[in-house]
Amino acid sequence: MMSVKCVYFLLIFTIRQAFCETSKVRWYESLIQEGIEKAKNYQLPSDAKMYEPRENQKINEYGSYDYVIIGSGTSGSIIASRLSEIENWSVLVLEAGNFSDNGFVQFPRYFPMHSSSQYSWGYESVPQSTACLGTVNKVCKIHQGKGVGGTSLINGVLYVRGHPDNYDNWAKIAEDPSWSYRNILKYFKKTEKFLWTNKKVPVDLQYHGNEGLLHVQHKVPNFFLTDVFINANKELGIGVTDYNSPKQLGSSVLQLYTKNGAREDIGSVFVTPFLNRKNLKVSTESYVTKIGINRLTKTANTVIFSKKGNTFKATAKKEIILAAGAVSTPQILMLSGIGPKNSLENLGIPPIQDLKVGGKLMDHPTSKALIFSTNVSLPSETLQEQIRDYLQGIGTLTAPTLSQALGFYSLNNTNNVAPNVEIISDLTQPTEIDKKFSGWSDDTYKAYWGKNENSIGFAIINVAPKSFGTIKLKSRDPYEHPLIDSKLLSDENNEDIDVMYEAIKLVFKLTQTQAYKRLNLRYLGEPLTRCRHLKFKTKEYWRCFLRQTTLTGYHPVGTCPMGVDAEKGAVVGSDLKVIGIEKLRIADASVFPTPVAGHPSVACLMVGEKVADEIKNEHLEVCPRY
Ligand SMILES: Cc1cc2nc3c(=O)[nH]c(=O)nc-3n(C[C@H](O)[C@H](O)[C@H](O)COP(=O)(O)OP(=O)(O)OC[C@H]3O[C@@H](n4cnc5c(N)ncnc54)[C@H](O)[C@@H]3O)c2cc1C
Ligand SMILES: *[C@@H]1O[C@H](CO)[C@@H](O)[C@H](O)[C@H]1NC(C)=O
Ligand SMILES: *[C@@H]1O[C@H](CO)[C@@H](O)[C@H](O)[C@H]1NC(C)=O
Ligand SMILES: *[C@@H]1O[C@H](CO)[C@@H](O)[C@H](O)[C@H]1NC(C)=O
Ligand SMILES: *[C@@H]1O[C@H](CO)[C@@H](O)[C@H](O)[C@H]1NC(C)=O
Repeated sequence: MMSVKCVYFLLIFTIRQAFCETSKVRWYESLIQEGIEKAKNYQLPSDAKMYEPRENQKINEYGSYDYVIIGSGTSGSIIASRLSEIENWSVLVLEAGNFSDNGFVQFPRYFPMHSSSQYSWGYESVPQSTACLGTVNKVCKIHQGKGVGGTSLINGVLYVRGHPDNYDNWAKIAEDPSWSYRNILKYFKKTEKFLWTNKKVPVDLQYHGNEGLLHVQHKVPNFFLTDVFINANKELGIGVTDYNSPKQLGSSVLQLYTKNGAREDIGSVFVTPFLNRKNLKVSTESYVTKIGINRLTKTANTVIFSKKGNTFKATAKKEIILAAGAVSTPQILMLSGIGPKNSLENLGIPPIQDLKVGGKLMDHPTSKALIFSTNVSLPSETLQEQIRDYLQGIGTLTAPTLSQALGFYSLNNTNNVAPNVEIISDLTQPTEIDKKFSGWSDDTYKAYWGKNENSIGFAIINVAPKSFGTIKLKSRDPYEHPLIDSKLLSDENNEDIDVMYEAIKLVFKLTQTQAYKRLNLRYLGEPLTRCRHLKFKTKEYWRCFLRQTTLTGYHPVGTCPMGVDAEKGAVVGSDLKVIGIEKLRIADASVFPTPVAGHPSVACLMVGEKVADEIKNEHLEVCPRY
């Protein structure tokens, strides 16, 4: 028989548990509320002057390392992790940002707000003439992450590799079969720990890894719009698939790199757990301004950086690996004398190697402005209820969208197995934060989102674009942001915009299905001010609409592309070594020779794994190569 004392303790225990639970929920609640408030008011920098050293600084020695990695972002973090597995190698990582505090950034649901934080660079394009026209000053926001983990600290955690054809095409461009899908699949699998809990949706396990450090969750979404999207596709004859298998076309439930519903940034997974390695040193708040290259031998030797007001020089004995992302990598190269000869000379930078750095910036044109009114309401749970779910690893806060589905399509496409369009739909009630994130002007925002109604929005993404822009230096001052000219939808034959137009037609078809009809959809957008001269909803109108509402997908790639011919724009060879320079490799989104029909962080992981593997093979070879 239970004694009175026992009952008493049990009671105390239960009350205590409930109390602890409540205070935990409160703690998360204020974390979120403060995060939202901070994001609203956060002023992103328009330059990098915060890193400028005090005047007349002498250059301090920072020591000598086998490898110096510039940028601990998505690719850089993997490379740091893998190279430091070799105890004999000393590895220095220089990262401009901080380690993640794993605070507000942990919630995938709030990802657009994470671009308004210390983990974000604040880049934007120069004024545009072919897209991003519905924004303040006609500029595209170019959000890029800053900190150990890089852009994986602020992105949408979607795990989408792209189509095998994309990589087979890379292999062709690089004239190196090691980049073919067949050969890189092992690198995708190596980082992944696939958690397949949604058995309703087909998955092809032979294409997934289960021993990697990065958790990829494929959950059972609890929000009914996920099924609506999938059913609407089925009505149009479009089946359900695992978009990370070679059969990418179709609709799918999202695969997200989260652990128990929390963001898993690449730094927290691949760097932080290994900081006890004696041979690995990660220096944060370290802003690289230049790579020192010997002019005669054309060999990269040193890295100059500023840290807390001081200037330092680190020496690389074996190699320097530049992984500062598609915007900063070309900037650092050009500041170091590698880039288009004439433009470097014009800025007063003595050129060392004439290469078309920054000559081919590509991104996924994205429009989120197809908005429909609906009689469905946002879930009525309170924030506290959402947090209780989150603490169980489920619910609204664990995914970037409420509706956890997307589709890949090949529209009007000569290549009919690889997608050229991606569509994601969600229930939204846009806020000032979304306006700030995209940079909308008042009138564009009002024409679409100003109605304060629940609405179902469709984002259309051109995942096989042809247009490209450029990245140039503004000046020789390393503390200025570079000039980014996105030039989305600027291809001569208007193929990119036509693909987007085909996607609009598909969205309207989807909204006509029984699945969506039940939600009483009605197109909500009003004619845009700057497109009023055109007949509403005609092809001409939609083209005008697309130039106003298409923004970048925040997927910049290709600014130092891999290839064989420097004359034709290649900056690195298939081994990712900078053409004509010794001991310098690039490994991040800059080297993509073409965009992939996926979300680029996953390809960045693969690039990091591959280059680390090859560096190991090269330097650890038992017999020298003849
Ligand atoms: C809002 C948003 C949503 C996105 N959603 C997704 C998604 O859902 N799924 C997906 O796969 N991709 C997504 N992406 C894109 C993806 O995250 C990036 O393409 C990818 O992470 C880029 O990796 P990287 O290694 O090339 O560069 P990064 O991860 O950006 O790393 C570069 C690192 O270098 C550092 N650095 C830069 N300059 C210097 C310097 N001078 N000195 C020292 N360090 C420097 C940076 O601080 C950064 O840490 C999204 C991006 C954004 C902005
Ligand atoms: C590491 O160094 C030790 C001692 O110098 C040497 O015996 C060993 O072969 C080295 N290992 C590698 C992998 O280079
Ligand atoms: C890093 O964090 C410190 C302490 O919070 C802060 O003062 C500093 O500004 C941060 N640095 C960067 C580059 O964000
Ligand atoms: C799609 O095909 C039609 C008819 O063949 C053509 O008029 C249109 O330009 C094509 N669109 C795209 C995006 O290629
Ligand atoms: C929404 O409208 C449709 C069509 O009028 C109706 O069938 C459905 O029940 C409504 N749903 C809600 C939640 O009101």
